Order: sequence, then structure tokens, then C-alpha cells
Amino acid sequence: MEQNKRFATKIIRASAYPDSFGAINIPVYRNAAFEFEDSESMAAAFQYRYDRHTYSRISNPTVSNFEAKLKAASGAETVMSFASGMAAITGTLLTIARAGKNIVSSPHLFGNTLSLLRFTLQEFGIETRFVNTDHLDEIAAAIDDNTCAFFAEIITNPHLEIANLPEISKILKEKNVPMVIDTTVVPWCGYDAEMCGIDIEVVSTTKYISGGATGIGGAVVDYGRFDWKRNPKLSAVPKPKGMSRFMFKLRSEIARNLGACITPDTSWMHSLGLETLQIRYEKMSANAHTLAQFLCNCEQATKVNYPNLDNAPYKKISDLIFNGNPGAMLTFHLPDKVACFRFMDRLKIIRRATNLFDNKTLVIHPESTIYGTFGKEMKELAGVSPTLIRLSAGLEDANDLIDDVKQALE
Ligand SMILES: Cc1ncc(COP(=O)(O)O)c(C=O)c1O
Repeated sequence: MEQNKRFATKIIRASAYPDSFGAINIPVYRNAAFEFEDSESMAAAFQYRYDRHTYSRISNPTVSNFEAKLKAASGAETVMSFASGMAAITGTLLTIARAGKNIVSSPHLFGNTLSLLRFTLQEFGIETRFVNTDHLDEIAAAIDDNTCAFFAEIITNPHLEIANLPEISKILKEKNVPMVIDTTVVPWCGYDAEMCGIDIEVVSTTKYISGGATGIGGAVVDYGRFDWKRNPKLSAVPKPKGMSRFMFKLRSEIARNLGACITPDTSWMHSLGLETLQIRYEKMSANAHTLAQFLCNCEQATKVNYPNLDNAPYKKISDLIFNGNPGAMLTFHLPDKVACFRFMDRLKIIRRATNLFDNKTLVIHPESTIYGTFGKEMKELAGVSPTLIRLSAGLEDANDLIDDVKQALE
């Protein structure tokens, strides 16, 4: 019955189990270890059974409740939470790839993800082939027998490019390559993962889900659609009922060895945040659209990017995938870096901070911050201009945000 409910109802109602006292929010289980009635049941719990908790790095009742809510919100087969979005990405790629394998990805990625692919994984023998995802033939040409994943962001941060995922998925299906998408910048109520052909999602729950930047968290979402039998690394991995080989390997080996578990406190905060996700998303997106339209009429802004603007280059695909709501991130260009810094320093309501989808409106100059330690070659690969400002719209009154932008530009 719960499955038939609509998104806003599902995210409020979902939970892993009823509380024995009738508390309508599952409590925070702030403990490391769980006691067993006898040695037999203790030994059994260590045999990859997920019906008992043993140790909170591996699982915890508050965290399981968060995962149950994420599963209901996404409609996925299984979900595993992590200490951060980066831990979710790292855990996923370490589960799928190994030395000698390659990943095909756009280079237009969040800075730490680009660094993970370009440097960290490369040092372990995992190559990333960077392609322009606007060119489907480039994607097809980059894939070979050693390609173990296609990776992209659903809308690239901060470039705001939107790959044609439904078309890309046709190529990937033909070549039997899983589609792994970072969906941090649009929540599940904003698109249909199946229509896009997404197999696995990685999400920073720090953003929309957290409900006001209440802590750092991440999640891996598995729709259970990909047949991992053909991946040589995962073909021999067991496939328990209701869980893919990928998720079994991630949960039972990679995640516990990586040790990047979300804390019960953060998962409790993010569970509460998830309950108000849809309403915040709609208001933040409306504020972003209003601000983008306002900036289009400001002569100081040499270019404004928001996928829902009438003349936006990705408007058609944005409408197809996001039904006219591409979220709360927008960017714009001022004539030079000095003008960007001057604008940011004059803001009175909008905050200078590195995050997305906080309740507060935030701005950042990505080239000097997120990409600031990259050398020339990496900056070119990342494609982030020194004239670009990224803005994440919050929940303030749009008129106050406009007034703040106006006075800072004058
Ligand atoms: C698109 C995207 N993916 C992943 C991350 C990393 O998430 P976290 O900071 O939770 O590790 C970020 C952080 O800004 C992001 O913007």
C-alpha cells in the first residue's frame, strides 16, 4: 500500500521498523556495539546477515531507518548510506573498478570528484577516459572491453550541462556498461531514474536531503537493473535475494573496509531533512529561476546560466528530464575575477560559503576555491572560468535576494 503513495507522503511515512515505545521519530542509537544473547547468534550475525546489528560501522538502527527512507524516496532496490557524498562515490567506484579497468566520464565534475578520478584512482591503475558527453559518438568510441562504468553528474556542477541520459543509456545497454550518476543536484521527485537509464546513483545527502546543511552525508542508490554477472570483478560475488552483486560487495566488503560510515546523529538529522525535501526543492528552484531572470536583465552580468531560461542551451533536455524544474543552482559571469570578488564582498544577505541547497542562499567563486589548488592543465580540464560565480538559492524571500544582488552589483 505504501508503494502506491506519492513522493511527499512516502518520504514522511517510510521507516525501517516501528519504535517499541511508539515514538514517531526513530531514536538516535548513539552506540558502537550490540550485545547478543549467546555465541551462536553472535556468530550467525557475522555471516553477512542483515537482520541483526553487530557494530555501528557496519550498520545501526538509526542509520537503517535513514536508508529505508532513502529507499522509499528513490524507489530503488537497495540504498546504503555513507559518511559523505565523496565516500559514496569512492565506495561505488572501488566496488566496480579495479586496476586495468577504465571509467568513461565527463571532466565537468565537482572538483573533488574530478581529483578522485584524475589522480587518486589513477594511482591504483584505474584509468578515467574523459569525454564530451554532448557527443554520443565520443562516448561510444571511448568504451572498450575494460570499461566498467560510465560516470556523470545529472546536471554538472558548476557548468550546468545536462547530458542526454536516455540516449546515452542506449549506447551503454548495447555495450553492457552500467550508468553511474551523481544525482546530488536534483532530488528524486525531480526526475525519473528509469527513464534516464540510471543503474546506480551516488548522492551527497549534505545538500538537499540534509534539511539545512545539518551535517555531511552520502548515499549509494542501486535500482537493481544492471546484470553484474558480466562484470569480471563482480560475476563471482553472491547475489542474495533483493540485493544485487554490486550492493553485496559494497556492503559486505568495500564499505566496511573503507570505514566511512555516516553517524547515527547525522543520519537522524538527514532523515528529518528528507521529510521536507520536496517543498524546499520547489521553493529554492523558484527562487533560483527568479534570480536567473533578474540577472539576465543586469548589464553587469555578461552571461547567466540556468537550464530553465528560455534561451538556455540545455533547455530542451532539461524539460524532458526535469519537467521544467532543474533545481536551485545557477551561475553567472561578471567581466573579471576582481568584479566577482567585489560583488561577493558586498553581499549582505547572501552568504559566501561552499555548499549547495542549504536553506540559506550561498555564493562561491569556484575557480579560486573548489578548483583553486588545481594547476593550469587541471583547471582547463575542469573548464571553470575565473569570471564565474555559482549561486545556490535558499528559502529567503525572492525580493530580498534580488535587492541584495542589485545593491552588490551597483
Ligand atoms: C555534485 C556533487 N557531488 C558530490 C559532492 C561531495 O559531497 P560531500 O561534500 O557530501 O562529500 C558535492 C559537494 O559539493 C557535489 O556538489
